[in-house]
Amino acid sequence: MPTVPGIPGPRMPRPVQALGFIARTTPFMAKQRARHGDVFEVNIADEKPWVIFSQPDHVREIFTGDPAVFHAGKGNRVLLPLLGDNSVLLLDDAAHLRQRKLLLPPFHGERMARYGELMREVAEREVASWPVGEPLQLAPRMQDVTLEVIMRAVFGMREGAELDHVRGALLTMLDRVMHPVTFLLALALGPDGMRKAKIVRDTLAPADAALLEEFSRRRDAPDLAEREDILSLLLQARHEDGSPMSDQELRDELMTLLVAGHETTATALSWAVERLIRHPQALADLRDDLDAGNTEYLDAVIQETLRLRPVLPVVVRDLQADVEIGGRPLPAGTRIAVSITLAHRNPDVYPDPHAFRPERWLGTKPGTYTWIPFGGGIRRCLGASFALFEMQQVLPAVVQDLELRATDPAPERVARRAITLTPARRTEVIVEGRRTHAPRTQAPEAVAA
Ligand code: HEM
Repeated sequence: MPTVPGIPGPRMPRPVQALGFIARTTPFMAKQRARHGDVFEVNIADEKPWVIFSQPDHVREIFTGDPAVFHAGKGNRVLLPLLGDNSVLLLDDAAHLRQRKLLLPPFHGERMARYGELMREVAEREVASWPVGEPLQLAPRMQDVTLEVIMRAVFGMREGAELDHVRGALLTMLDRVMHPVTFLLALALGPDGMRKAKIVRDTLAPADAALLEEFSRRRDAPDLAEREDILSLLLQARHEDGSPMSDQELRDELMTLLVAGHETTATALSWAVERLIRHPQALADLRDDLDAGNTEYLDAVIQETLRLRPVLPVVVRDLQADVEIGGRPLPAGTRIAVSITLAHRNPDVYPDPHAFRPERWLGTKPGTYTWIPFGGGIRRCLGASFALFEMQQVLPAVVQDLELRATDPAPERVARRAITLTPARRTEVIVEGRRTHAPRTQAPEAVAA
């Protein structure tokens, strides 16, 4: 039953709505919009009602709204036991700005080009190891790539025993945290209960210890001032009062970058390959453009993939005061959600919205309030330039070096994995052979900084 005055919504029982939203997000949301109009309410299990928006004017009002009114941190509280009190994802107001200010400079678009060679090298090595002639799920392989890139570019680890130790500790921790049992435990105990649970503390302790050891090694590194990785930059960053980040702050932010950046980017890459191998003309055009040393079509493929298959379906804000959005009054306490999926399939903005057509981006730039895979406003994804740049480096290694086909020509369904929307068969392909091609050009400038 809809509960926010004046906002329509489905009348089906909450568990049915929850199931629709969780298991079939895209068709569920499209159906509600068709039935109730642009702004509607959904009720998902015990969550408070969500009022869903997707029209460009509404998206603009939300993303440019006063951050003291449009809180984002509370919606992410389920991640508290993992990310900790200082995580930029969980904070609001002055505390959020303080952390964001420290993290922003290392992620500035112009800095990203420095990671190009490293990203390409990691991708080429991984792609060269994929077996020929047998079914292969690309999503886990892409996760190997994005994890390695984070270990090297963000954590600044160099090949060797220490890298292996930290990577191993983080992988064991991530495996346990992503396990469905952990999800059930989180539902039963809530964020504060989870935090106190021994099993959770035991899971996090080895990874935390490995990180703290790395911080102290890095502080003592003689070349700290010349290093380009994000941890080394954060170790030298200062709060406005001149104080450095504490170990706990560093730990919480690095864990945040790992969790926010690893699976998301791998999923986006997996979708790009999933779409390309089912659109041979787009794949051929991409290869031709890359072979000619251009990256315009590559950017178009990346933008179209993130439009049609956004990794995250919604971004959420909690209203701290009464506001009007699109002329509709909403009381303080309401949770509002921008539906990325619906915004990206708006036929007024995107003709033939369900078709994968990278050409639609040639000669056009994505709109701030109509292309929103990274959210927007003061909470826009900190790693957007990093992720786009990584996709620019990794995708050519896959499509130029390999001849690929889908194991099943039918498109992969959109499936939910925790909070991300991922290809249901994890982008299952067969590598048919290796290709020869013109030498790859140097790292292009980052798109859409
Ligand atoms: C294709 C890959 C990615 C996608 C689709 C994505 C998407 C998003 C979205 C939708 C948000 C929420 C924005 C909002 O509330 O308006 C977000 C926040 C964030 N992302 Fe990403 N992300 C990706 C990659 C990354 C990477 C690589 C990193 C870092 C290495 C990263 C770090 C963050 C952080 C720290 C935030 C919180 C920002 C804040 O609250 O101020 N993300 N991301």
